[in-house]
Parts: sequence; structure tokens; C-alpha cells
Amino acid sequence: MFEIAPSILSADFTRLADAIESVEAGGAKVLHVDVMDGHFVPNITIGLPVVRSLRKATRMSIDTHLMIEEPGRYAVQFVDAGADMVSVHIEADAHIHRTLTSIRDAGAKAGIAINPATSLSTLDEALGYADFVLVMSVNPGFGGQRFIPSSLEKVRRLKQMIAERSLETRIEIDGGIDAENIAEVVEAGAEIIVAGSAVFDGGAPADAVRGLLDSGTVWV
Ligand code: DX5
Ligand code: ZN
Repeated sequence: MFEIAPSILSADFTRLADAIESVEAGGAKVLHVDVMDGHFVPNITIGLPVVRSLRKATRMSIDTHLMIEEPGRYAVQFVDAGADMVSVHIEADAHIHRTLTSIRDAGAKAGIAINPATSLSTLDEALGYADFVLVMSVNPGFGGQRFIPSSLEKVRRLKQMIAERSLETRIEIDGGIDAENIAEVVEAGAEIIVAGSAVFDGGAPADAVRGLLDSGTVWV
């Protein structure tokens, strides 16, 4: 089973309510919210007030992807604002065990996000404290980039690592996913599939979500 997590980064921010209504109608259960600080990544997006407003407007799970320095300072604030899932980049947090634990203690799912050029070996000690791992399949910062093909192998290896340790950790993948490559990432082991431009750029988000759900269904 996999689910589509539309990234609102590619939505029209003046019409967010319409955007979330349509992706929910298309079958999305998770809403991906990209939080960028202009330091960890070269872009600035949205933060806590928007998450608070989204919380009032949807029943979908809110998945906040923190692309910020010192995420430990803000992670619990995102849970308090209404996030159901909070991921923090391993490259940005020297105390990720503490941050993951604080997210869980606050009542949300804790995720480790990992950049394309960061080795899975960095997860070794932290994996057991995460509910999910977000594998970046583009360099974080912007929507609409091209999928990095080696991410597929990375997802496969991560899936194996999780299985070897008998963990229940879920794999999320983020960046450059579309109807062409979604089946491959699902087959590799990703269960939460983020899609921004593939959902919002065509002007029919509900249909796009349905299309991705359909294309990602791997028949065996
Ligand atoms: C990139 C963000 C992604 C982005 C995905 O830094 O983390 O969530 O919105 O957009 P697409 O699907 O267009 O690559
Ligand atoms: Zn993201």
C-alpha cells in the first residue's frame, strides 16, 4: 500500500483551501508541507501560521518537511500547530535523537529526512527512533526538479536495512515523482509518495492524484 502526499509548494498560495479540497477529493490522505528557512536550503517558504490554518481546513494528515537549520528548536512547535508528521534533516541536526524523541513525545510521527548525497550509513544509530525516513530524490529547495535515478537503489537498500532490523519504519520519497516513475518507486519500497508539480501544474489536482494512485499500483 502506498499513499500520495501532494506538496502544496506547487499550489497557488492565494487559493490553498481550494487546493487541499481538490487533492482530498482525488484520494490524498496526507498533505506535504515544505518548510524552508533560506539557510539549510536556498529558498524561503512557509511556517507555523500556515500549518495552523491548514489544520483547521483539513482532516488529511499534515506532513511537515522541515528544511531548516536547528530543527530541534521548532519541531515540537510544528506538532503543536497541528502537524501529524514532522521530518527533520539528518544533515541539519547534531542532536537528532533528542529531536525525534521530542516529536514522538508530543504525539506526532517522527521522520528523518536525508539528502541525495548523504549516505544511509548516517541513519545507523538513529533509525530505531524514527517512524519514517524521507528519502530526497532531488536536492531540496525547489519543486519541479528532475528525479535523481540513484534514489531508487537507495530506497531498496533502506528497505532492506529496515527489514534486517525488524523495524516498522515507513519510507517516504520526495522530489521529481510523476506518473512515469511512480510505479518504480513504489516497487522499490516507498510507501508515502510526495508529488508537487505532478499534482498542481496541470490545473486539475484531483485528477492528477487519481492518476498517480492508478499509475503507482503495481500489479504482480
Ligand atoms: C523540494 C521539496 C519537495 C517538492 C516536490 O525541496 O521538498 O517536497 O515540493 O516537488 P516536485 O514533486 O515538483 O519535485
Ligand atoms: Zn518536501
